[in-house]
Amino acid sequence: METFQNLPAHVSIIMDGNGRWAQRHSLPRFKGHYEGVESVRAIVECSCTMGIRYLSLFAFSEENWNRPQDEVSRLMELFAQCMKGELDNFLKNGVRFVVLGNREKFSASLNSTIDEMMDKTAAGNKLTLVVFLSYSGKWDILQAARKLAVEHPDGNFGPDDFASALVTDGIPDPDLLIRTSGEMRISNYMLWQLSYTEIVVVDTLWPDFRKSNFLDALAEYEKRDRRFGKVK
Ligand code: IPE
Ligand code: IPE
Ligand code: MG
Repeated sequence: METFQNLPAHVSIIMDGNGRWAQRHSLPRFKGHYEGVESVRAIVECSCTMGIRYLSLFAFSEENWNRPQDEVSRLMELFAQCMKGELDNFLKNGVRFVVLGNREKFSASLNSTIDEMMDKTAAGNKLTLVVFLSYSGKWDILQAARKLAVEHPDGNFGPDDFASALVTDGIPDPDLLIRTSGEMRISNYMLWQLSYTEIVVVDTLWPDFRKSNFLDALAEYEKRDRRFGKVK
């Protein structure tokens, strides 16, 4: 197994390019999402082996609700089906499974599947796997601001209070953000939390992204010199 001197505690991935993968294989878009699930399995397994503590995956953005109804319903079905299918695996490997995002828009049945998965895996102490569903960075900042306006009407709060009001409270900020499919943008992901994250963009489409691509990104991270605005 490859060893790294400087393994990120939290790796986050914008899993992009499923539609283009399907198009290149002359398949309907949803086939790209199905194949993307294989990549998720491979990367979760590799993260467990490597000893990464937090892996977060951007699976569905607030803006993705505006996609064609058929694609949205298939994605919702896929999320529910995959979660249930992975439960035993998560329990065996000490994975704590967490979903973060605006859950008001999910069906009651998806919400109960999510609750059940989160409850049953709550004691997992090896890898925390965070799946961002119906999430956007601006939504997160707004919901935090609303909470703080009630808790601190005097406006007397600092950056740590703000970070604690975000849905990612308790999860360290990502050290490494990987985006697949070559797009050089954040697409309204964790806007606050990514302030000092190292970014690696790869051309590989998400359904083709497997262990070797992940290890390459970790190797790239290891070469980075993180300065956090200071002089070294
Ligand atoms: C990412 O792949 C998955 C989701 C956003 C749900 P896309 O579906 O965005 O694939 P492209 O970008 O169209 O290729
Ligand atoms: C970002 O991908 C969201 C997810 C991967 C879930 P998109 O495909 O939605 O982003 P844009 O539209 O290319 O910016
Ligand atoms: Mg995309």
